[in-house]
Amino acid sequence: MNERKELRVQKIKDGTVIDHITAGYALDVLRILGLTGKEGLTISVVMNVPSHKLGLKDIVKIEGKELLEEEVHKIALIAPNATINIIRDYEVLSKMKVKIPDNLIGLVKCGNPSCITNSREPIKPVFHVISRDPLLIQCYYCRRIMDRSEALLNLI
Ligand code: CTP
Ligand code: ZN
Repeated sequence: MNERKELRVQKIKDGTVIDHITAGYALDVLRILGLTGKEGLTISVVMNVPSHKLGLKDIVKIEGKELLEEEVHKIALIAPNATINIIRDYEVLSKMKVKIPDNLIGLVKCGNPSCITNSREPIKPVFHVISRDPLLIQCYYCRRIMDRSEALLNLI
């Protein structure tokens, strides 16, 4: 780790570091976590910094917060190469690569307006992941297939 990078963002004491986010997507990650900055948490956002693995990447550091499994799955849709690091007392306690699950339950709204999941029925949208790269998901109810950009537009 070089000195310039150390100056750019400090290490954190306790919390979560979401690393290797696809360059340009850090704000989308914060949005799906529902973080606006008004919660009072200390958050560092770094965008478009060089990465050994990816060319450029974004990083989000959230102090004093741990993520729910559902949140990790949504991050996987936005940033399929992201790594979630749990930090305790300055050490990396655990490191996990995000993974898109086989089925997305209640994470993405169906893009088909006449789908039953968009009616007034209380039915959670369910998508089966047909392919991860490129991302293709299929609605369990109306069989509509959505690609990555449509899925991201419909994140719940
Ligand atoms: N980090 C942090 N605060 C700490 C410890 C780590 O902000 N107290 C950050 C690092 O800056 C890095 C990420 O958490 O962005 C993962 O840390 P580490 O595993 O030490 O870095 P690498 O080995 O480079 O990670 P990887 O192998 O996942 O690229
Ligand atoms: Zn549908």
